[in-house]
Amino acid sequence: MDKKYFRSNVVYQIYPRSFCDSNGDGIGDIPGIISKLDYLKDLGIGIIWLSPVYKSPNCDYGYDISDYKAIQPEFGTMEDMDRLIAEAKKRGIRIIMDLVVNHTSDEHPWFQASRDPKSPYHGYYYWRKGRKNNKKPPNNWTSDFGGSAWKYDPEVDEWYLHLFSEKQVDLDWHNPKILEEVEDILRFWLDKGIYGFRCDVINQIWKEDLDDAKFTIYIRGLDHYLNKQGNHVILQKLHEDVFSKYDCMTVGECYNVTHEAARQFTSGNELDMCFHFDAMHVDQIFAPVFHRKYKPHRLKKILFDWQQAIDWNANYFENHDQLRSIERFGSMDYRNESAKMLALMLMTLRGTPYVYQGEEIGMTNINPYFEKEEYRDPVNHWIYEIIRKIGFSHKGALKRVQNCNRDNARTPMQWSAELNGGFSSGKPWIRENENYVDINVESQLNDPDSIYSFYKKAIGIRKEIPALSYGSFEPIETSNSLMAFRRVFENEAYLVLINMTPHEAKIPDGLFAENSSIVFSNYADSSLKDLTSLRPFESLLIRL
Ligand code: GLC
Ligand code: CA
Repeated sequence: MDKKYFRSNVVYQIYPRSFCDSNGDGIGDIPGIISKLDYLKDLGIGIIWLSPVYKSPNCDYGYDISDYKAIQPEFGTMEDMDRLIAEAKKRGIRIIMDLVVNHTSDEHPWFQASRDPKSPYHGYYYWRKGRKNNKKPPNNWTSDFGGSAWKYDPEVDEWYLHLFSEKQVDLDWHNPKILEEVEDILRFWLDKGIYGFRCDVINQIWKEDLDDAKFTIYIRGLDHYLNKQGNHVILQKLHEDVFSKYDCMTVGECYNVTHEAARQFTSGNELDMCFHFDAMHVDQIFAPVFHRKYKPHRLKKILFDWQQAIDWNANYFENHDQLRSIERFGSMDYRNESAKMLALMLMTLRGTPYVYQGEEIGMTNINPYFEKEEYRDPVNHWIYEIIRKIGFSHKGALKRVQNCNRDNARTPMQWSAELNGGFSSGKPWIRENENYVDINVESQLNDPDSIYSFYKKAIGIRKEIPALSYGSFEPIETSNSLMAFRRVFENEAYLVLINMTPHEAKIPDGLFAENSSIVFSNYADSSLKDLTSLRPFESLLIRL
């Protein structure tokens, strides 16, 4: 039995810009994070995933890196970072960092140097001549962030590839120098005591060829760079040369990953686990702006399929790119019950659970939506323009942008009912959610019925019960509203029953016995006696 640390510990994701501001400039920072380590320890988490803290021009808030070995000055210094690692360690918390190596910032010295065609750095990126006498991009791929994936540089008289914004330039992993550079960066951080990496868009770093892609409405080009064999080879090299030499973990962000590709990514010599996006697409159609009605049974099927397809999942309902989860998978009418339902699901599925900052207090999206002037994520602006172009009104466009507006997850962490939710003494860099007056850490810490207290308890139980970490996953077929599965380890068996809906859900007979007992539940008065149905979002962990 593989009892690696990440199998029995919970990860907490911090988006540093919005977590805690120590000096009143309205921007969260590393000293701010250090000041909250006791809070995190008390919550019971064992691993922090830090979204990027490297030097960055901030076109994508850190996902555009200009120096992989320097700290973003807004966040602090390298001394602060060393202190964070040491202080976390003192509290038994390990830190993983974001590894963004599909692209660098256009302000990275490598890219600056690469603009000289004679420089060895020219081959670090995809510089190409365009078509039609260099007037048109080299192929028809589109960027995730809108428009062509190529940008013409008049001085160089060539085009460069960017799958994201123009300021995020794709590295050419066909060049063996890239592997060398990245391995050097990995060692630099691992030697500092970092426990591993969340690898950004890691299943698209290998561009098989630069031929035209088949026509798609949204993100054209995926067929040429998603989950390619060369990608596996690169990860195997990184694993062999670096990861296998350290006690560390890796989780890959794998957009549109198939079960088969994920199985290969996690087969032991590439990554430890992958984030898939299937659950995030459950209420979308074509592209994130287009909403379709959420159906619990669809989510159940996706999660069950993944549980059975691969040995070890990375389970999550929120992160810095997604809307808050209660409104998606729960209900604002049952905010407490449904937030706790999701917590119970997260902590009982097989795999490493990831909690995103604020999820543990049930933070919500901005309601009804952000105004255009309030947008911080630059992606919103082009989505807005496209929606206007296809004929929607100003208001209609604002509403649709809201369906996928990443700023929702990036509003300041709500610590208290005080000024700016206790996040900062200055004006926050992004609009705060006014509901901090009601939804905040301080008001939940000592309330045994709060969402926070439930998370704390759920995390504790998850760590205490080996079956929840190491046990097998056994799905049980039930009605659409109910999720039911068993977790079995050695001679212990547990049953999880989750009502995913705001309606009553019937429980089939015979799932538990007379001597079974409830370990915990999201209703204070749940009982197995004469239990035949669950109340709205009622969820139970039962010892069989
Ligand atoms: C990942 C990150 C996202 C970023 C993108 C480009 O999807 O999670 O925030 O914009 O990669 O780096
Ligand atoms: Ca600050």
